[in-house]
Amino acid sequence: MTFDFARFPALDGFPRAGLHHGPTPLVPAPRLGEALGIPRLLLKRDDVHPLGVGGNKLRKLDFHLGAALAEGADTVLTFGAMQTNHGRQTAAACARLGLRCELVLTAAVPRSGEAYEQSGNIPLDLLFGAAVHICATPEETVAKHEQLLAEAAVDGRKVRSIPVGGSDPLGVLGYVDATAELAGQLADLGIDQARIVGPHASGATAAGLALGTALLGSLDLDVACVSHPLDEAVDNLAALVTGAAELMGLDPPKLDHVWMNDTTIGEGYGIPASGTWAALRRVSYWTRSTPGRPRPR
Ligand SMILES: Cc1ncc(COP(=O)(O)O)c(C=O)c1O
Repeated sequence: MTFDFARFPALDGFPRAGLHHGPTPLVPAPRLGEALGIPRLLLKRDDVHPLGVGGNKLRKLDFHLGAALAEGADTVLTFGAMQTNHGRQTAAACARLGLRCELVLTAAVPRSGEAYEQSGNIPLDLLFGAAVHICATPEETVAKHEQLLAEAAVDGRKVRSIPVGGSDPLGVLGYVDATAELAGQLADLGIDQARIVGPHASGATAAGLALGTALLGSLDLDVACVSHPLDEAVDNLAALVTGAAELMGLDPPKLDHVWMNDTTIGEGYGIPASGTWAALRRVSYWTRSTPGRPRPR
């Protein structure tokens, strides 16, 4: 059985910002696969992208910012936790496109101090020219959003607001498109069946993979929930898949090929669990190590 590319609807009707010049690399990881007991392990490197240090949000932003440009917006406003990757990629994409970027960030992680608040993505957000607004509570975030919209109205600026993580039905299309790209790469390698493993946090990545694989067939999907408990994540994924299918003029597909679990959730958002560090060490060792380095536990 091969992938059903004929069933895959064109996404040409949706304006794109031209941020993503795919395909991102699909690289074999034979030693990691052997260590994990997986016969043929391939890593889809969506972290490898020339814009804004890369990451999964750029595919969603291609559609969001395409819509922003098409409707004549000059200001983009989005949300997230203080160290959000989505915020950093939005800031970089807006810098590329000449759009003003406002990041409304909530101090949602029980961490504080200069090292946390002025490192990682925050200096990159600022280097990419975004205005960064840190709010202490969700209520303050709502109030800041309203204030920024009011200020834009006074200035005569047109704002497009993008939800947390870029995860709404339009953002899902980024990973519907990614699934077709991945299936094309698999077909080039002579692979016609595979199990994809992906994350679920704000949801559009997993929802796009779920919808894309439903359309193509021959691909199963394992989703690791890293933010919401299973019942919430299942509802969120189903709602995003349905919304995206409707945008594409399709009936929502069955998702019998999708498995989700939340055993990967740690202590809380932004707090690395001991298993997280162990996994990072293991992947780093088996994909990059030089002989003689001590093996990770
Ligand atoms: C590096 C990375 N991978 C995966 C995810 C999860 O993607 P999504 O928010 O689309 O569920 C995120 C989002 O927070 C992320 O930053």
